[in-house]
Amino acid sequence: MNYIKNEYKSAIVTGSSKGIGLAICELLLKEGFKVVGWSRSGSELKHDNYFDISCDMSDRKRVEKAYAKSTELLGEAAAVLINNAGFGLAGKVEEMEVSDWENMFAVNVHGLFYSSRLAVPDMKKRGFGHIINISSIAGTTGIEQMSAYVGTKHAVRGISHSWYKELRQDGIKVSCVYPGSVNTNFFDEIAAVTANENMMRAEDIAESVWHCLNTHENYHVVDIEVRPLRPKGK
Ligand SMILES: NC(=O)c1ccc[n+]([C@@H]2O[C@H](COP(=O)([O-])OP(=O)(O)OC[C@H]3O[C@@H](n4cnc5c(N)ncnc54)[C@H](OP(=O)(O)O)[C@@H]3O)[C@@H](O)[C@H]2O)c1
Repeated sequence: MNYIKNEYKSAIVTGSSKGIGLAICELLLKEGFKVVGWSRSGSELKHDNYFDISCDMSDRKRVEKAYAKSTELLGEAAAVLINNAGFGLAGKVEEMEVSDWENMFAVNVHGLFYSSRLAVPDMKKRGFGHIINISSIAGTTGIEQMSAYVGTKHAVRGISHSWYKELRQDGIKVSCVYPGSVNTNFFDEIAAVTANENMMRAEDIAESVWHCLNTHENYHVVDIEVRPLRPKGK
């Protein structure tokens, strides 16, 4: 049985050009949503209910423009916001470029705040909204030479937990997803790891997002951690 009502089927997905974000867009479209995807490079996705917007999440002004344009394209404020855009770079603490450190926080943490601070007032007016933040298992533990990324994903976890407590009385759900390794372009910039088939599939993360979304109105998935069963293969 579907719990999510038809009037809630409008979504913004950040980081929609590839990987997990693209898989989430595809699944939401299949479920009858209107979807606006934000990214810098743009998505090749073609669908009557899909709209693509160029946006760098680290730039607050561009996020504000993207949000206003999304409302116009959807014909209403989005009921669902998936904060998925993000990236990770590896490096020893004394070797990490300051600009890389700052950019990771700008996209993974500040960007998620820029979009959510715009969506929340509209969600409050509607009396329904769902924000889903994509953290990582890097948001639950330390990983050597990944301190910046780990720091951003711990921040996403703490922010998500604070927001769900702050917003639940307004009918707004906030869920946080913690994937282990997923076979996407995420690892292109990380020399020590090569994406491979033993990692999870992006479409399975999208199914977990759908599981968070498609619940009874009084059922709130706060955290969901997912990992590959056999990360080293059979
Ligand atoms: N893959 C994994 O193992 C894994 C595990 C746990 C969590 N995650 C998280 O899952 C999310 C998606 O990652 P993925 O695995 O799908 O990686 P991906 O294939 O590299 O996709 C990353 C997405 O984020 C977008 N993005 C990056 N920087 C951006 C910026 N400044 N402004 C707007 N969009 C930006 C990219 O679009 P453009 O480059 O076109 O801007 C792309 O659409 C990230 O938050 C990541 O931290 C991934």
